[in-house]
Amino acid sequence: MTTPELIAEPGTQPQGLAACRELLQRGDCRSVRYYAQIGSTNSAAQQDISIDRPPPADQLPRLYLADQQTQGRGRLGRQWLSDDGSLTFSLLSPLDADRAGWLPLVIGLAIAHTIEYFAAPVHARIKWPNDVYVAGGKVAGVLVEAVGNRPGYVIVGVGLNVATQMNNVTESIGKPARSLNELARGPRHRYQWLPELVSQMNQAIEQLVDPSSGPQPWLAEIRRRCLLTGSQVRYRWGDRLIQGRCLGIDDDGGLKVHDGSTVQRLRSGEVTLHQ
Ligand code: BTN
Repeated sequence: MTTPELIAEPGTQPQGLAACRELLQRGDCRSVRYYAQIGSTNSAAQQDISIDRPPPADQLPRLYLADQQTQGRGRLGRQWLSDDGSLTFSLLSPLDADRAGWLPLVIGLAIAHTIEYFAAPVHARIKWPNDVYVAGGKVAGVLVEAVGNRPGYVIVGVGLNVATQMNNVTESIGKPARSLNELARGPRHRYQWLPELVSQMNQAIEQLVDPSSGPQPWLAEIRRRCLLTGSQVRYRWGDRLIQGRCLGIDDDGGLKVHDGSTVQRLRSGEVTLHQ
């Protein structure tokens, strides 16, 4: 086995370096790329794996961490703006495509567990398919990407609003966005969240990889935490804007919505709460 590898740009933050070392020591990551500034950690992982050989298996999971992202990406081609109160990182892990469909929801659970670990009694909820909400505000977004020419790997990007100043990032995160520091107890510095969060994410990914485990262990909890169940929601279906009542999470992780005449089963896309 190779020695755990930490490659950090000059100028990266001491708190970030300490968190990376802790992750490597505990074996939660096997290698780290830490940038003071980069376009997007998801894009860094994409480039790493597509232009070069994939990292050796004993260097995975690999963490890509950035003090600052200049071209952060959100779902559906959106921008993801962040500031120095935001935790922005990606994890490159081996995962077969047949399990990857569950990943956004399961990573949402890992984020919810981390928030409650630090900040109980707050209750974290999952807005299908991959946002995490606390007290009615979005505190985290997840961007899961496959690697086009390398099946068997997955990139999980997370943006967590620890102490993000919302006036710096208005509109980019999705409304209403909030910072954990204004809602809950818990660590004040973004990098104090990193080791526990990555450890929870790894446990979630390991469960997904385990061939003996189906979705049952987490499906019930995802259902309990679903923000949309029972509410009126809106979504686009082709060029139509549909409104209906959300019936909850389907057995395959999709979203069930009663549109007034039939039950629609959504597999992807975006659903908004209609108050
Ligand atoms: C969303 O809510 O639309 C998903 C946001 C994901 C943002 C994170 S920040 C780290 C990683 N790098 C990116 O460019 N995006 C993800």
